[in-house]
Parts: sequence; C-alpha cells; structure tokens
Amino acid sequence: MVESSPEVQHGLQDVVALESRICFIDGHQGRLIYDGYDIRDLASKSNFEEVAYLLWYGRLPTGDQLAALRARLVELRQLPAAMAERIDSMPATATPMDVLRTAVSELALFEPEETRPGPSSIGGAQRLTAVLPSILGQFHRRRAGLPPLTTRPDLSHASYLLYALLNRDPSELEGRALDVALILHADHELNASTFAARVTASTLSDLYSAVTSAVGTLKGPLHGGANERVMELLDEIGTPERAEEVVKSKLARHERIMGFGHRVYKVEDPRATILREWSRRIGESKGDLHYYELLRKVEEVVHREKGLYPNVDLYSGSVYTFMGIPHDLFTPVFAASRVAGWTAHVLEEYQDLRLIRPTAKYIGPTDLPYVPIAGRN
Ligand code: CMC
Repeated sequence: MVESSPEVQHGLQDVVALESRICFIDGHQGRLIYDGYDIRDLASKSNFEEVAYLLWYGRLPTGDQLAALRARLVELRQLPAAMAERIDSMPATATPMDVLRTAVSELALFEPEETRPGPSSIGGAQRLTAVLPSILGQFHRRRAGLPPLTTRPDLSHASYLLYALLNRDPSELEGRALDVALILHADHELNASTFAARVTASTLSDLYSAVTSAVGTLKGPLHGGANERVMELLDEIGTPERAEEVVKSKLARHERIMGFGHRVYKVEDPRATILREWSRRIGESKGDLHYYELLRKVEEVVHREKGLYPNVDLYSGSVYTFMGIPHDLFTPVFAASRVAGWTAHVLEEYQDLRLIRPTAKYIGPTDLPYVPIAGRN
C-alpha cells in the first residue's frame, strides 16, 4: 500500500479550485450574488436577457446593448433545418435531457465556426442560449402532437421557452414567473455541471463540448433532476395530512427528500425563498393552492426531523406544473437558463486558462507480481 499524506476532500467539499468574478454564494447568510448584484434585486427588477448579458460581460447592459442582445438572441433561435430533421428522427420515447445533450453536441457539426475555443466563443454562448428552447420545442411538440415550432420574434426568452413547449403564449403572470425562475437558475458558482464545463474548457476543448459535459452532469437527480422528484413525492403524499407519515417513513429508511439540503447553503437557499412566493402567487391565480400547501407541510416536517432547509428545487416544480410544463421538461428548463452561466464560466476559463487536473489518493496495492493469463484463477 502507498501511504499518501494529503487528506482527501470527499466530493471536493470546501476545496477552492479557482478565482471567478461571476458568482458569489454566502452560504451562512443565504445570499447569492451575480457579478456584484444581489439575486433578490435581479429577481424583482431584472429579466433573463439582462442577467445573461451581466454574466457574459460582467456589467449590466445599457438600453441599446440590451436591445441589441435581445435582437441577436431572437435571430439565433432558428435551428438549422438539418438539425431540426435530426431531432425529428430521435425516438419520441427518449428523455428530453438525452435529446438536449445529443443535440447540443451535434449542433457543433453544423456550426464549426462557433466552436473554436477562445474569446470569440461569445458567439457560441449566445447561439446555444438562444437555441436551447428551440431544441426542446422541436422535440416535445412532435412527441406531444403539437403544431411545428415558429421562432416568434415578439417573445422574450422566457415566453418563447413556454410557447415552444406548450404552443401557447403565457399570461403576464406566468411569463414573469418563468423569467424569474430563469434568472434564479442562471448561475450558481462551481456547481457540478459548471465545474464539468470548466474542466472540459480547461483542456482547450470547445464551448459545445463543454456545454455537452454540463448537460450530462445536470441530468442527475442530486443536481438538476431534483425538482421532478419533488413533484413525484407530492403526488405520493396526496394530502397535507399524509405529509408527516410519508416523509418520516422515508427518513427512517434513510431516503433523501428531494428539494432539501445543499452543499454550500447552511441556511435557506435564497432562490427557494423567492420561488416559494411565486408558487403561492401562481397557485392563487389558478385558484389552486394544493401543491403550495403540501410543500409547506413537507418543509415543516423535514426541518423539524432533519434540520434541513429547502433548496431551489423544492418550489420550482410546482410553478412549472401550474403552467402545464410536463415533469420531464423541468431539468431541460433548468438547462435553458443555466446555459448562460455555463457559457460565462467557459469564457472566463479561456481567459484564465489552467488545466484542471486534481490528484487522487491511491489506496490500492503497488507491488503485485504479474501472473501470465494461464496461471490466473
Ligand atoms: N434528505 C435527507 N437527508 C439529507 C438530505 C436530504 N435532501 N440532504 C442531506 N441529507 C443528509 C445526508 O443523508 C447526510 O446525513 P448523514 O450524515 O446522517 O449520512 C447529511 O445530510 C449530509 O449529506 P451529504 O450528502 O453528505 O451532503 P452534501 O453536501 O453532499 O449534499 C445534496 C448536498 C444537495 C447532494 C443533498 O443535500 C441532497 O441529496 N439533496 C437532495 C437532492 C436535491 O435536492 N438536489 C438539488 C440541489 S440544489 C440544485 C442544484 O444545485 O443543482
């Protein structure tokens, strides 16, 4: 056995891997900052396009800059015809995250000039951000028997995403709720998918490869897939009176309750605070507070039994469900926002490039004699 002296930081917990200007999480105060701006201000006063600009350029846009970015994103929504055909040829039973991962990777075949690593990748960043709703809409509309997608230049990124998925324009309240959800999901420092994107970019690989890594990483239920599982839990619980019994029995079996706990936040995730309020508002507007009340009850039990606080995924699913977004599109909706953060981090990585390559503590043997195959059993 080899004795290695350094302690292993399992899950890289508390390891500071790099410097970044993009996002700051104060896990003790429950604060989230994008490029200097508090998420609570951005969620109440800003919009997704402005936040994407902030993440990419490190400053809020002027009116003209924002108008130019909006126009550019609209222009870039259009899928290449060959890409649309490719998506149409994918099995209708495929999971949308698999479709998204494959489509992001394949898009690079159609846009080689956008895939070069370097500062010029900003074009690819905008392209990927603009086109993700179209990829999802192209796939979902076919499997749901909805009419083909049109690019709808009149709609914002958030409203276009909802239109692409549901073939209807959102109400003002729904459009704002989705816009806020996209702002809240746009970045989150070195979360697993962003780290995966940065690792890929740190080899001087291209932006599309980095975002493909990120989509595959986001897919897991410990990361982006949690809100879908929250809705499964709510449906299993059924009524608020059953919340105590169902949650306690899951905890007794050492099962994780999705939508709770966080590696960085030691108090409530500020995104959960904002989405809780939106869950209530959307529920009230539909005259149905069923999910909101269930979630409040689950929160009470989990906090009492385990001392855990809600994270961003606890309330987002109820907001999306009220809009009619199918559960298997929740994580893709997360991706349609986080792509702004992934690409901002990749651009930052290209500017301050250092191959990300940690080491492992070896715990195996070192001096085994090699036995020819005929002599093994
Ligand atoms: N339900 C029940 N127990 C939990 C939960 C939970 N949701 N989260 C943590 N714990 C317990 C865990 O079992 C462990 O207990 P013990 O020490 O007795 O074994 C202890 O808390 C520490 O857990 P950990 O997994 O070592 O902590 P972590 O920092 O690695 O976990 C987490 C972070 C998000 C993976 C975890 O809290 C979790 O699995 N939550 C549920 C999944 C979820 O909601 N994910 C979305 C995260 S926020 C969105 C995003 O960033 O993608």
